[in-house]
Amino acid sequence: MKESVTLIIMGVTGDLAKRKLLPAIYSLVTKKKLKNFAVIGVSRSENSMSSIIGESKKFVKGSNQKVWNKIGKRSEYIKLNFEDSEGYKVFGKGCLSLEKRFRLSGKRIFYLATLPEHFPAIVKNLKEVEMGKNKEDWPKLVFEKPFGYDLSSARKLNKTILSLFKERQIYRIDHYLGKELVANISLLRFTNRIFEPLWCKDHIENVQIILNEELTIGSRGEFYDKYGVLRDMVQSHIFQLLSLIAMESPEKIEGEFVRDKKLEVFKNLNVKDVLLGQYESFKSESGVAANSTTPTFAALKVFVDTPRWKGVPFFLKTGKALNETKAVIYIKFKEVSCLLSKTCPSDTNYLIINLRTNEGVALEVNTKIPGKNEVEPVKLDFRIKNKYGPNTPEAYESLIEDIIAGNQYAFVRNDSIEYCWQALEPWLKKKISIHRYKKGSKGPKELNKWSEKNKIGWRS
Ligand SMILES: NC(=O)c1ccc[n+]([C@@H]2O[C@H](COP(=O)([O-])OP(=O)(O)OC[C@H]3O[C@@H](n4cnc5c(N)ncnc54)[C@H](OP(=O)(O)O)[C@@H]3O)[C@@H](O)[C@H]2O)c1
Repeated sequence: MKESVTLIIMGVTGDLAKRKLLPAIYSLVTKKKLKNFAVIGVSRSENSMSSIIGESKKFVKGSNQKVWNKIGKRSEYIKLNFEDSEGYKVFGKGCLSLEKRFRLSGKRIFYLATLPEHFPAIVKNLKEVEMGKNKEDWPKLVFEKPFGYDLSSARKLNKTILSLFKERQIYRIDHYLGKELVANISLLRFTNRIFEPLWCKDHIENVQIILNEELTIGSRGEFYDKYGVLRDMVQSHIFQLLSLIAMESPEKIEGEFVRDKKLEVFKNLNVKDVLLGQYESFKSESGVAANSTTPTFAALKVFVDTPRWKGVPFFLKTGKALNETKAVIYIKFKEVSCLLSKTCPSDTNYLIINLRTNEGVALEVNTKIPGKNEVEPVKLDFRIKNKYGPNTPEAYESLIEDIIAGNQYAFVRNDSIEYCWQALEPWLKKKISIHRYKKGSKGPKELNKWSEKNKIGWRS
């Protein structure tokens, strides 16, 4: 990468910066994709980049100290309260002096790794002190999810940001949407004769998108109690994955082509039913209110009201503190209707897209059991690692590369985010029961009844 850039992490002492962003920078430097750079870490506590880097190291297996030293030398920590306008002047001077020291071009990426309530103050202040002076498509601003709290706050946020910067400078991140995944799902769907013509209501019975986590909310109690599962996971990751399954074919997997097609899906989202749950010890987690009614589990039945998908339910399920960690999309095809199917009952076919651990694609087909005139489903299993090796880049690494290069298609556009909030809005306002569930279980027991009512046999 030829660009000389200043990477500014707003919220550098946070979990995301230490666990994902600094390791992604480490990897880019190791691969010499990032040569001429500086890193500025910003947050409100007393700290230093050497201590933050020290904590980040444990998230990179077998890392090379020389690379960390290089990052350390090119880094600076600046203490700043995001709401303190005066402090941005000192921040601006610190940034300029580091850029001068390393003869950088002043192309800046502001990565807002903090809560959305700080986004307006940060963008306004950056503009005010001219750190965010527009020049071509720079600076670039990266916004972590959730982008907003509901429809009106997301609209307001878009309005504030777009009054100061152009959409071309804005990167609303959803790390589930690395460009590898966007391209993987799109190319799988649209370049295979055995899938493309079948990818519609005539052949698909339902789609199941499941993002389960064994982990509890850990140290993110305060954040999670405010946002909950619908805002944290469904509005962002799950709707984005759904759009990749449901969108029409883009002309190219680049530029605005993909984002235009995804928008059509978001405009037609129709959330029909929702079941919510909360794991039993959630209220005693640090940072969580003792009387919290925040959901940590959700199951949804959603329709995409387009001709392709009319009547096909998309079942979405996600939660914390569950019995397993997995991120999988199941495409359940309809049963075959032929004379043989009466004498030889068969299962329906599934296309299984694995997004986490053993990433890859499996197709489940019926094959004959030796010695019997019966069939059973067998998986034709493709794992990315087995074919292409273990070195596919982590999502944050390729997303940072995309930001530097100005590739926006794997990022969420302003109009899309508003339609996603709009689809969920009635369910955020509605009073729905929150069912308790045991840590390490499959979710609330009421899920069985809900699933029966909605005629969904979850694939496990
Ligand atoms: N953690 C993840 O795995 C993850 C994954 C996907 C998305 N995200 C998103 O990324 C964002 C950050 O998440 P996180 O888990 O890293 O949060 P976090 O651990 O709570 O970190 C928040 C950061 O913001 C800083 N901060 C908060 N208020 C500030 C203020 N008024 N002035 C200056 N600094 C302030 C904190 O600094 P101090 O330490 O100085 O208070 C800290 O560095 C959130 O929007 C989250 O939804 C996180």
